[in-house]
Amino acid sequence: MSKNVNRIILGIESSCDETAAALVENQGGTFKILANVVWSQVKIHQKYGGVVPEIAARNHVKKILPIIDLALKKSKVDKKNISGIAVATGPGLITSLLVGAQTAKTLAYLWQKPIYAINHLQAHLYANWLNNQPIKFPAVCLIVSGGHTELILMKNQTQLKKISETLDDAAGEAFDKVSQLLKLGYPGGPIVSAMAERGDAKAFKFPRPMIQNNNFNFSFSGLKTAVLYASQKFSPKKLKSYKLKANLCASFQQAVVEVLRAKTIKAAKYYNAKTIMLSGGVAANQLLRQTLEQKTKKMGLKFLTPKPELCTDNAAMIAAAAFFTKPTPWQKIKVDPNLSL
Ligand code: KG4
Ligand code: ZN
Repeated sequence: MSKNVNRIILGIESSCDETAAALVENQGGTFKILANVVWSQVKIHQKYGGVVPEIAARNHVKKILPIIDLALKKSKVDKKNISGIAVATGPGLITSLLVGAQTAKTLAYLWQKPIYAINHLQAHLYANWLNNQPIKFPAVCLIVSGGHTELILMKNQTQLKKISETLDDAAGEAFDKVSQLLKLGYPGGPIVSAMAERGDAKAFKFPRPMIQNNNFNFSFSGLKTAVLYASQKFSPKKLKSYKLKANLCASFQQAVVEVLRAKTIKAAKYYNAKTIMLSGGVAANQLLRQTLEQKTKKMGLKFLTPKPELCTDNAAMIAAAAFFTKPTPWQKIKVDPNLSL
């Protein structure tokens, strides 16, 4: 990224159930969010207990232009001053991704702007750059979301290498499934973590999957099943107890956080990291943020995580990623629901 240019990028995000648009400026290496609009479909999908792809795509179609319009108005940026358009092209739900990509392509063609195809996972990482803090490399980055739990090694600001992943469920998926089995609602992460605050994390002894393994991979499917089995020991009447549910949530959350902390720290030591970064939707979890930050600081390393609202899906992170990405001719923009790092 050149130090002397001033660029403004319009970011567009529609990979799952958030329709989002943002204007991000970079002046001489310093990022500024000029507008960041996120329209969440959570309320629409709540009654189904999860995201229904067809409904998500239809709502993106309805909302994408008004949301882009609102972001432009809020930022007070004239479209002639936009230097490029960035859009998430994967991973995600194919029909949802297509709405964002098609919109971005059309605008890029009409406004004659370069277009940047952004990997949604990379964008979660680049959300850390919006903090405007100097980053020392190598950095070990934990991305924890609804679909992914991965450790990434960054040798510099553009060289990324995946060092581990989950062998089954992602951490966010486990939060969502535990919430579902305890009939707490959707999306599970914020609900389970709020319940956990009122529970006893030592009430249940849940496994810490793969915590002792030599590699850095994760597994959360067995932990979710352990919560299911523990809950099945109680009668349906007893399971209605708030305290019992809070204890199950707190014990589950503690197990997830301990595994994420242990594996991240192990990787940081192995790769002699100078910085640990935490991002993705689950990074909004307060216990995870505090635990990892404390441990990182004790080791004398730098800890970075985006503000909670920039951890969950948003378009500011998509725009931020564009500053580290080469443009793609609009005719070649393709979505890939299984795009990896
Ligand atoms: O990054 P994100 O917004 O979407 C994906 O790319 O997947 O992450 C969504 C995931 C969901 O599984 C949600 O339950 C989880 O992040 N999540 C949380 C919290 N807030 C969101 N998990 C634990 N604690 C939270 N506070
Ligand atoms: Zn995401």
